[in-house]
Amino acid sequence: MSLCQYSIVFALLFVGAFGHGDEELFLPLKTLQKIQHNHNEPSCSSQKSRSENGAIILEMKHKDYCFRSRGDLNKRLQKRLLADDIRVRSIQSHIKNVSSQHVEALSQTTTQIPIGSGVTLQTLNYIVTVTLGGRNMTVIVDTGSDLTWVQCQPCRLCYNQPEPLFNPSISPSFRSVACNSSACQSLESATGNSGLCGANSQTCNYLVSYGDGSYTKGELGQDHLVLGSSSVDNFVFGCGRNNRGLFGLASGLMGLGRSDLSLISQTSGVFGGVFSYCLPSTEAESSGSLVFGGDASVFKNSTPISYTKMVSNPQLFSFYFLNLTGMTVGGVAVQGSSFGKSGFLIDSGTVITRLPPSIYKAVKAEFLKQFSGYPLAPGYSILDTCFELSTYEEVNVPTIKMYFEGGAEMEVDVAGVFYFVKSDASQVCLALASLQYEDEIGIIGNFQQRNTRVIYDTKQSQVGFAKETCSFM
Ligand SMILES: *[C@@H]1O[C@H](CO)[C@@H](O)[C@H](O)[C@H]1NC(C)=O
Ligand SMILES: *[C@@H]1O[C@H](CO)[C@@H](O)[C@H](O)[C@H]1NC(C)=O
Ligand SMILES: *[C@@H]1O[C@H](CO)[C@@H](O)[C@H](O)[C@H]1NC(C)=O
Ligand SMILES: *[C@@H]1O[C@H](CO)[C@@H](O)[C@H](O)[C@H]1NC(C)=O
Repeated sequence: MSLCQYSIVFALLFVGAFGHGDEELFLPLKTLQKIQHNHNEPSCSSQKSRSENGAIILEMKHKDYCFRSRGDLNKRLQKRLLADDIRVRSIQSHIKNVSSQHVEALSQTTTQIPIGSGVTLQTLNYIVTVTLGGRNMTVIVDTGSDLTWVQCQPCRLCYNQPEPLFNPSISPSFRSVACNSSACQSLESATGNSGLCGANSQTCNYLVSYGDGSYTKGELGQDHLVLGSSSVDNFVFGCGRNNRGLFGLASGLMGLGRSDLSLISQTSGVFGGVFSYCLPSTEAESSGSLVFGGDASVFKNSTPISYTKMVSNPQLFSFYFLNLTGMTVGGVAVQGSSFGKSGFLIDSGTVITRLPPSIYKAVKAEFLKQFSGYPLAPGYSILDTCFELSTYEEVNVPTIKMYFEGGAEMEVDVAGVFYFVKSDASQVCLALASLQYEDEIGIIGNFQQRNTRVIYDTKQSQVGFAKETCSFM
């Protein structure tokens, strides 16, 4: 095994019900076994938190662990990739729309450019629990949008959620946000839709539509937000009275984008505009952590943090863009015409990393060259580089590294290289996909960010990476 390779050992446990004989298995099957044999719903309304050196650390879980979807694993895996494709298409079309709106806006000498978040939510996989107005609320974490919202009583149209709905009338600290307030005016840049006066000027109605038909609609409110042991007064959020879409069973969403209304902007006085996460593997039961505050001593990183600057994009202010300057596969640098060109988006909600065609082709060719001798399997959905590995107990996988302006590097953890389409390893695919066109925006998805500490420092406009085996403790 060379230094630039990982070794995956498949034989983790034996599950008689699913294998033929002594199958060698791996994590997706373990999850399936748990889903089928454990009928106790885990309590996800009481995820842990702690504070250390002034930083707040929230336990972060994969959505599937708390909100188990029933049914066939292979179907769920397929559905996840389809949903991921919808999210990416909606981000791309949103970016195109904004670019064309920008041209119009300039000709009209308008300075404010409306943007929508352009995300779909089915694949927003990670959840945390916060306390809002005294109630625990388990929410989806999204770095691609800004407004934090929860489903709210009285509700016109709410989807099913296990936690009680937020009820403003029993929270003594709840306040409505007036429609002439700056928060209400910030809605336009945060969501693409301006805030509207409600029945009276004491309320501000909002609408966030996520591009795929998912939306949340309601009014802005303010209440105490508790993140771990840290309390934020007058936190502005959406009290959603009409919510539809693919939000799973979460009580709402936490917006960690860059605009004024995002949680990280509103708490910048407390946490200095810095947050970070470590995303655990989907299928493992392991927890990750979402950390507010920039004290690096609370991280469990095993390599030094390397930073790259955020690429500014005034038209798309909520998104985090980076300058991807190169990639290596097994230590070999690949060539691609789009390195260093346009910004690459880093997103907590997209699953599979999307590369411009020139870069994807080069990465794929180098990967196939180094990961040779294994039988190929048919492509699957957006994934076109697949292998039949069911007869192997161990394979050596070339490491994939991404390099960013300023020399920052992110090594894709072994858990982020292969997507197991079939749980018997008969169809295992390289977990990267090509964009359709060279000029579309590349996206670094959450699958490739697993077991990496990703630090967003909005004050210094930089993003940092370090290797870390995610855990809450
Ligand atoms: C709320 O969450 C905390 C931990 O974050 C837990 O200790 C507490 O029991 C939870 N409360 C309810 C009502 O579930
Ligand atoms: C982009 O604009 C087209 C045409 O105006 C519209 O159909 C589409 O829904 C827009 N997409 C987004 C994400 O706003
Ligand atoms: C909003 O309107 C109220 C009266 O309805 C007024 O007292 C207040 O000063 C206004 N606030 C701003 C920021 O204009
Ligand atoms: C990205 O970084 C490279 C190397 O430092 C630089 O040459 C290039 O101009 C940068 N691109 C952008 C869009 O900032």
